[in-house]
Amino acid sequence: MRRFFSILLCIAMIGCMAGCSGIRATEPSDNEAFVIGFSQVGSESDWRVANTRSMTATFEGDPEYELIMENARQQQENQFTAVRKFILEGVDFIIIAPTVEEGWDTVLAEIKDAGIPVIIMDRSVAVENEDLYLTNIGSDFLHQGNLAVEWLESEIPSDKNIKILHLQGTIGATAQIQRTRALESAVAKHANWEISSQLYGDFTEAKAYEVMTEYLKENKDIDVLYSENDNMTFGAMRAFEEAGITYGNGGQVKIITFDATREALQYCHDGKINLCVECNPLFGPRVKELIEKYRKGEPIPKHVYVDESAYTTQSITQDFVDSREY
Ligand code: AHR
Repeated sequence: MRRFFSILLCIAMIGCMAGCSGIRATEPSDNEAFVIGFSQVGSESDWRVANTRSMTATFEGDPEYELIMENARQQQENQFTAVRKFILEGVDFIIIAPTVEEGWDTVLAEIKDAGIPVIIMDRSVAVENEDLYLTNIGSDFLHQGNLAVEWLESEIPSDKNIKILHLQGTIGATAQIQRTRALESAVAKHANWEISSQLYGDFTEAKAYEVMTEYLKENKDIDVLYSENDNMTFGAMRAFEEAGITYGNGGQVKIITFDATREALQYCHDGKINLCVECNPLFGPRVKELIEKYRKGEPIPKHVYVDESAYTTQSITQDFVDSREY
């Protein structure tokens, strides 16, 4: 059956899919491999690269599975195209890491009509009918934001006014929405906290460097940088240096960053970043466990969160940094 769909698909797609980015983590087999179509957000950050690696490494070498990954290059439209291709191919299962939360009702209904189960991974989708997917596995992004805010509360005396520069990730992505929500609610509660500006960095180092460089030409009065991922933080650090602004422990700007990649933890250990809030991308094995439970007909929870915490210069050791897998 899958072969028939594949032939149909080839005919349908010849000549019209320039830039098609499907990657097979496993060799297609003639037998009964369980085929998973995986629509990944992109490769915008070190976090994302580690997440892709975790997914492909989990299924690689397992003859029972075939994982086909499509990189959406941060465009939701590309995800729709990939998912419709998976449906045409007659895959057994679909995994979606959604770029943004809104806009999924129609395509998820199409998957359901095709009788294919779906896992939403990393970020979430905002749909009326939650039966359109089996489960949502990923981070509790609001909890992450609250960890950052609690740390800032412990650092800033209530009589000290602070200006917070807020670097935001892809607008509409759960990671952006919830981390922003945590900060904005905290600012509403603290009369001495002010968000001086919200800049759009799209979770990439290049974009963050560009917007920060521009911003710092006119604005240098910054006490805290709340940056919604590590790669944007790296871009911001470069811009601070070029503008002659000091940061980190003992510097003008305290830096809060999300992901806690090895590189960011190293900066934190070296006193250049004040707080790293963890966002763990290594949940490929847990996704596989959920799929296996589904295949055995076992119940699976509607939402699965990965465990995460936060690190400061004082709380981490070099051994911890060196042992970081991503
Ligand atoms: O959705 C997870 C976020 O997306 C990570 O914080 C970020 O680095 C990635 O691009």
